[in-house]
Amino acid sequence: MTRLAIGIDIGGTGIKGGLVNVKSGEFIGERIRVMTPAGGEPEDIIAVTREVIDQLNAPDGTPVGVAFPSVIRSGITMSAANVSKRWIGFEAEAFFERGLGREIHFINDADAAGFAEVKYGAAQDHDGLVILTTLGTGIGSAVIYNGVLIPNTELGHLEIDGHDAETKASSVAREREGITYEEWAVRLQRYYSHLEMLFSPDLFLVGGGVSKSHDQFLPLLTLRTPIIPATLLNRAGILGAAALAFDAHKSARTHDSAKGKKAASLSVGD
Ligand code: BGC
Repeated sequence: MTRLAIGIDIGGTGIKGGLVNVKSGEFIGERIRVMTPAGGEPEDIIAVTREVIDQLNAPDGTPVGVAFPSVIRSGITMSAANVSKRWIGFEAEAFFERGLGREIHFINDADAAGFAEVKYGAAQDHDGLVILTTLGTGIGSAVIYNGVLIPNTELGHLEIDGHDAETKASSVAREREGITYEEWAVRLQRYYSHLEMLFSPDLFLVGGGVSKSHDQFLPLLTLRTPIIPATLLNRAGILGAAALAFDAHKSARTHDSAKGKKAASLSVGD
């Protein structure tokens, strides 16, 4: 049986989607990309997401994972990076499930990317503690221990030298200030040394669009921990969202059928 799930990756500029074979990490058919509606309001984003899902022609009942730039707790988006502030404290999963009439799982965007890199990419089957940071508009983080994701870490917001780290060390901070890769690497050194001191990880992965230029800055860093570029690039969010949605769907079904069996066996004795 092919194990399928849809992954949708919602960002401040684009919404991407794909139908994924979660066993192999391969896409079935084309990936789709559309612009994020200006303002990033929930009603506009759900409309575009519906179009993307329709175009993927997935079998009925295919679980959908949505990678989103927010802390997600019990399906509620608790923060909002580069989308409307209305997402803060918003029942996103319920809103999407009602609107799209199907099962939806919301996942933090960096968590989705990190999970994908461990399952299919640069850190495939890497044991121990892996920390992925995405260097983009902000800094996202994913912490994975022996293949298990510890969700919702916000390591881009560590306070370092009196600053929210992502305001100095993200890729957009480098562009905004027009500093060289060498100057940026000094900030990255400070950032990753701090993470290393706090977590003693086994591996750092560096994602985000700028990871394509990793040879310009990663060799300038001196750390005890190996630090390598992510390899799935803009596929990571879709793949991770699909894989995590598939796992959540499977465990919910196992849980339901265990409950069903228990109920059945209880009722037999009644
Ligand atoms: C947000 C994270 C998000 C990251 C990347 C940060 O500003 O707080 O939740 O994962 O940006 O989009």
